Amino acid sequence: MRRRSSNIVAFSCMFFILALQAILPISSASLQYGFYDYDYKCKRTNVELLVRGVVAKAIRKDPGVGAGLIRMYFHDCFVRGCDASVLLDPTTANPTPEKTSGANFPSLRGFEVIDQAKAKLERRCPGVVSCADIVAFAARDAALFLGRISYPIPSGRLDGRVSLQSEVLQNLPAPFFSLSQNEAFFANKGMSPEEMVTLSGAHSIGRSHCSSFTNRLYPTEDPTIDRSFAGILKGVCPQNAAVDGVVPQDIVTPNRLSNQYYKNVKAHKVLFTTDQNLMSSSDTAAMVKENARNQTAWKAKFAAAMVKMGNLVELTGPPGEIRKNCRVVN
Ligand code: HEM
Repeated sequence: MRRRSSNIVAFSCMFFILALQAILPISSASLQYGFYDYDYKCKRTNVELLVRGVVAKAIRKDPGVGAGLIRMYFHDCFVRGCDASVLLDPTTANPTPEKTSGANFPSLRGFEVIDQAKAKLERRCPGVVSCADIVAFAARDAALFLGRISYPIPSGRLDGRVSLQSEVLQNLPAPFFSLSQNEAFFANKGMSPEEMVTLSGAHSIGRSHCSSFTNRLYPTEDPTIDRSFAGILKGVCPQNAAVDGVVPQDIVTPNRLSNQYYKNVKAHKVLFTTDQNLMSSSDTAAMVKENARNQTAWKAKFAAAMVKMGNLVELTGPPGEIRKNCRVVN
């Protein structure tokens, strides 16, 4: 009899926990959907909607900023986890933060959008919303406005106090990498080759500086690049140019986050060695072809991979903090 009643208690507890999880889905790394909905100080502010408004305005003015925000999220999360370490400005104590790495400077953009959202949030509910979460929300919103890709993302990340230029190239793949090097860098973050292929679709928006791909044009042209496409690129990016020009990643639909990227890969009209190398193994080539064929399926995979990238969280308590200003530690 006693065993039966304890079974009932155990079953009821389990049911209660499952029901609670259904209402408040808990993601890994103790992130939570709607994390700020339950914050007492922020109860009059819809935090995620506020960020969305700031991002919408910025993208209306310049869609390129949306591309910058999606890239910023990737560059933040792959180095020390999603902790806004990429946002920290140089100081006398730390003259070379991540921002000063060649992978980020001068190409990374969108910092002002994060500053604007943060300033608004600090006025409404000071000291509550982390810069790392603002970056994650902003990237999610950019995907919505540029790609009609919509997904909820859990939050509750903390901001880091450490940001080192020296860690950037150890963690972010370079555009001249082989397929296996690229896969290894993603695997290092727990991301599969399929997720790597899926996320590379972000190269359907935004721009690149010539210096990121001229190794494919000079001194000899990469045989895997379409010849007429290479000709166009050479026009914008002459050899030994004094100024580092910029070109759109996708000349077909430069501001639309879409599966056009995979069509470009198939047509050999992509900028980086890493992009074209997706065709260099039968496994990844099959993924490229499938994504080129099925935009709806690719969008769903993209959303899932973006959420997964956001679970790269290393800080779950002190010294993690909520910065007052995203560019400096408290
Ligand atoms: C697979 C390995 C990757 C490599 C080697 C790579 C490399 C690069 C490089 C070199 C640029 C051009 C920077 C410049 O010269 O201006 C760029 C731009 C960009 N990347 Fe990636 N990337 C990779 C993956 C990703 C991922 C996973 C995302 C996001 C999900 C992403 C999003 C973007 C976006 C949106 C741009 C355009 C940025 C802008 O217009 O400001 N990339 N990437």
